[in-house]
Amino acid sequence: MPEQFGKQCTERRRTKMKITQLSPNIGANIDGVDLAKPLTPEAIETIKALWDQHLVLRFRNQSINDDDLLRFSKYFGELDPPGPNPYGVTFLPEYPEINVISNVKTADGTPIGNLGDGEAVWHADMTYIEQPPVAGILYSLEVPLGQGNTYFSNMIRAYEALPDALKKEIDGKILIHDAAHNSAGMLRKGYSEVTDPSETPGARHPMVWTGTRGKQALFLGRRPNAYVVGLSVDESNRLLDEVWSHATEPQWTWHNEWEVGDLIMWQNHLVMHRRDAFAGNTRRIMHRTQLKTFAA
Ligand code: SIN
Repeated sequence: MPEQFGKQCTERRRTKMKITQLSPNIGANIDGVDLAKPLTPEAIETIKALWDQHLVLRFRNQSINDDDLLRFSKYFGELDPPGPNPYGVTFLPEYPEINVISNVKTADGTPIGNLGDGEAVWHADMTYIEQPPVAGILYSLEVPLGQGNTYFSNMIRAYEALPDALKKEIDGKILIHDAAHNSAGMLRKGYSEVTDPSETPGARHPMVWTGTRGKQALFLGRRPNAYVVGLSVDESNRLLDEVWSHATEPQWTWHNEWEVGDLIMWQNHLVMHRRDAFAGNTRRIMHRTQLKTFAA
């Protein structure tokens, strides 16, 4: 899908926002907002409504610091601290609510962030806990151009378009969401490998999720090590493969080719995301917040 899908390019005259839809089923770009400055209540309400409509919003050419990122994030809900990482450290001790996503290492080889330079497979964040965050907000500080693209997929549209037979099959089914690995496949501190997916540690959630705002969506977490409760492992794998193949069809997706100063926010219960691998000799640094609940 070309970057300038641009079907619904509208001006919000009173807030001076220019909104461009980024693909048929997900994502909008917002120009005309400086996130380094406090936003007016009217601008916040406009962004909330656009977020509900498009599920993923992008703001380009921003120049914000960590305080700005926290202030902006808090307009939309209660901050949720980052989940555990494989190194068992807080990447930014002075900003514990901010996670660092990076492949960069210090001179002594210590990673400054999580996820490395490999592919991050399709997932929603932290669905392996009972109350997964409702949203993620990711800001790019350094990026290798044309690499490490991030893809987003609309799970409301995917659920709506699911063939009736599959809808029936997943109705009432509960899925175990793997807590042991992150989306780069790294084992989290304190966990060990299991070979039988029915023994996967992690939260159990319905496959059809009623989101915080009442919309129904596929809720799949991560494919590796997932298991549908009550089925044989083979049956569970067959069902999951069918649903996953539908949920990640390109028609539900849009991807961002990152530039420095991009800020992207997504609704984590209703959207899955994945990231391409990128060259290990490049630098990619992102700061990220997540929300436990939405603001009223
Ligand atoms: C993530 O999965 O949250 C990371 C996405 C990215 O690195 O672009």
